[in-house]
Amino acid sequence: MSDERVVNPNSGEDDQQEKSLRPRFLSEFIGQEKVVKQLHIAITAAKGRGEPLDHTLLYGPPGLGKTSLANVLANEMGVTIKLSSGPAIERPGDLAAVLSNLQKGDILFIDEIHRLNRVIEEVLYPAMEDFALDIMVGKGPSARPLRLKLAPFTVVGATTRLALLTSPLRDRFGTIQRMEFYSNEALYDIVVRSAHILNVETLEEGAHEIASRARGTPRIVNRLLRRVRDYAQVEADGIITREVAQKALTQLEIDVLGLDENDRRLLRAIIDLFRGGPVGISTLAASLAEETDAIEDVYEPYLLQLGFLQRTPRGRIATQRAYEHLGIPYVHPERDRTEQGRLW
Ligand SMILES: Nc1ncnc2c1ncn2[C@@H]1O[C@H](COP(=O)(O)OP(=O)(O)OP(=O)(O)O)[C@@H](O)[C@H]1O
Ligand SMILES: [Mg+2]
Repeated sequence: MSDERVVNPNSGEDDQQEKSLRPRFLSEFIGQEKVVKQLHIAITAAKGRGEPLDHTLLYGPPGLGKTSLANVLANEMGVTIKLSSGPAIERPGDLAAVLSNLQKGDILFIDEIHRLNRVIEEVLYPAMEDFALDIMVGKGPSARPLRLKLAPFTVVGATTRLALLTSPLRDRFGTIQRMEFYSNEALYDIVVRSAHILNVETLEEGAHEIASRARGTPRIVNRLLRRVRDYAQVEADGIITREVAQKALTQLEIDVLGLDENDRRLLRAIIDLFRGGPVGISTLAASLAEETDAIEDVYEPYLLQLGFLQRTPRGRIATQRAYEHLGIPYVHPERDRTEQGRLW
């Protein structure tokens, strides 16, 4: 499955433009009301006390606005944000250098924090807990530990996989916020806002059409909007009507629920090759020539949300809804097995 798929929630090249679409303040941040409300309280309280914000962990599927929200937190607190990521911090010295350069209240954003290596985590623990950096000075028998004071700061961590975080790391976050897929109403509001910023005339029904096929994900809604804009410009009079949106999205093979050929291929594999499941994730991945990580991070969350897929201890199962959506007659897995048993 290629990165070029339009409904890939991961960031791609043509999303570089998305920076201008990023909300900068909480008041511009559409949807995620629960998270926004709690963060608003945390920000107001911290500012009232003149203290840095509590360490905050944001988790949820890709493209839902974790990075945007981290930037919003920095803007609201009026502090500088340093962007980093789990795989980018390779040596303890790298982290120590970043930490010792932070000013009071600054935010250190660590994307994909579940991919930090354990040695780095050990440096991060005292830094988060006591704002201290433990280093060893000297070599051999004369080596001794030295504790350096850091300015109090805030770690904002982001992850798509909360379960992969070690518990000591998770315990050091004062706030853990789960990002949910966006409602169609929220996505509609995002289309309207982005269309305004991109200066493309969009009719209400056109915006609804785009929102309803964006699989609950702002990054995808913005990407679809740009593709539909191109189509409108070349094949119509530049205005995004419902018809223009429908035609453009159909041409991209994105169906009414926002599924593309890759999603359908995954579901069909479970149904055709594994009789609807259960099938283990690694077997499924191998049959699709995909990484298990990609399946778990990118494809599954939305299919689970739609109720097309079930995760069971014995593997993945395609539900009746999935069969119906694909127009395949449904065979209940259990019944299927007893029939098989009889045949044997
Ligand atoms: N609440 C929102 N309101 C308006 N636009 C949003 C919102 N959240 C995200 N976006 C848009 O979606 C894009 C993707 O958001 P962002 O990069 O923050 O996602 P992410 O969760 O960090 O994704 P990843 O896990 O891939 O890093 C942003 O550039 C922005 O344009
Ligand atoms: Mg991000």
